[in-house]
Amino acid sequence: MDNAGLLTYLSERRLEVDRLLHSYLPGPKSDPPLLHEAMRYSLFAGGKRIRPILCIASCEAVGGRSVLALPFASAIELIHTYSLVHDDLPAMDDDAYRRGKLTNHKMFGESTAILVGDALLTAAFTMMAEKGLASTISPKKILRVMLELGSASGSTGMVGGQLNDIEAQGKEDLTLEKLKRIHTHKTGVLIRASVRIGGILGGAGPKKRSQLTCFGEKIGLAFQIADDVLDVEGEEKKLGKPVGQDESKGRCTYPALMGVSRAKKEAIVLVEEALTEIKSFGPEADPIRQIALFIIDREK
Ligand code: IPE
Ligand code: IPE
Ligand code: MG
Ligand code: MG
Ligand code: MG
Repeated sequence: MDNAGLLTYLSERRLEVDRLLHSYLPGPKSDPPLLHEAMRYSLFAGGKRIRPILCIASCEAVGGRSVLALPFASAIELIHTYSLVHDDLPAMDDDAYRRGKLTNHKMFGESTAILVGDALLTAAFTMMAEKGLASTISPKKILRVMLELGSASGSTGMVGGQLNDIEAQGKEDLTLEKLKRIHTHKTGVLIRASVRIGGILGGAGPKKRSQLTCFGEKIGLAFQIADDVLDVEGEEKKLGKPVGQDESKGRCTYPALMGVSRAKKEAIVLVEEALTEIKSFGPEADPIRQIALFIIDREK
């Protein structure tokens, strides 16, 4: 798969995810219309859909059918979008632009934005239950997937990482070990879960599951390092969010700790290691290989 092939793959998968999310979420006029309009505003503002695509591609990488993974992959995007809406709030990162548009609280007010996050998070679990019940997947497998996503997103995963991130801001004693912990939790675990869920749904055995776990962990950390680098070197127009915010707000980032060029090298090494983990996989794993490379070579 070359670069053009990857771009086609990403846009086709993105369409599938968007189509399902559009049909699943209550329409913008459903009661209460303000909430549903605000949920759709952030969800369909143009995210890359990397997590759901990774989930689908990981299912295919172990020989599974992508249709099985699609509803669960889409649920991951609901959780990711909720995390962005809350991440941008004044009490958190206090950002005004996201996905090329005003952030949810700038558009709809803080109380609505908090409730949008709550509703997207809840919708992720109702969606998995509802679509799972309507599928041929065994209830036990569905519960394993829901457990995986719940624990990756909660206090010992993403939410915990967000707290550690806020706590560490502006502190002088940030070590690489602490920063790595923040990044793997606030961002890495959800990406790892996306890959693992794809593997579970695709019927991966213990060996492949553990290889996918290591792969997901490494690209998850690389993803946040690349995000930090883009905040220094990226273009606001392409990114759809302001640049230079991390430094001005004293946030905990790889470039702040070790400089941009070392940060980039760290991310490259992580992706190389990730690719080694799945070396024994066949050509059906090419999309996840290409996505791993894309993670550190993206403009948005
Ligand atoms: C941004 O995630 C937040 C991080 C965890 C770094 P993405 O870069 O995947 O954002 P979207 O979904 O494409 O907007
Ligand atoms: C966000 O990290 C992580 C989560 C939302 C869980 P950042 O705060 O670095 O993400 P951006 O730069 O605002 O997208
Ligand atoms: Mg943040
Ligand atoms: Mg932020
Ligand atoms: Mg960032």
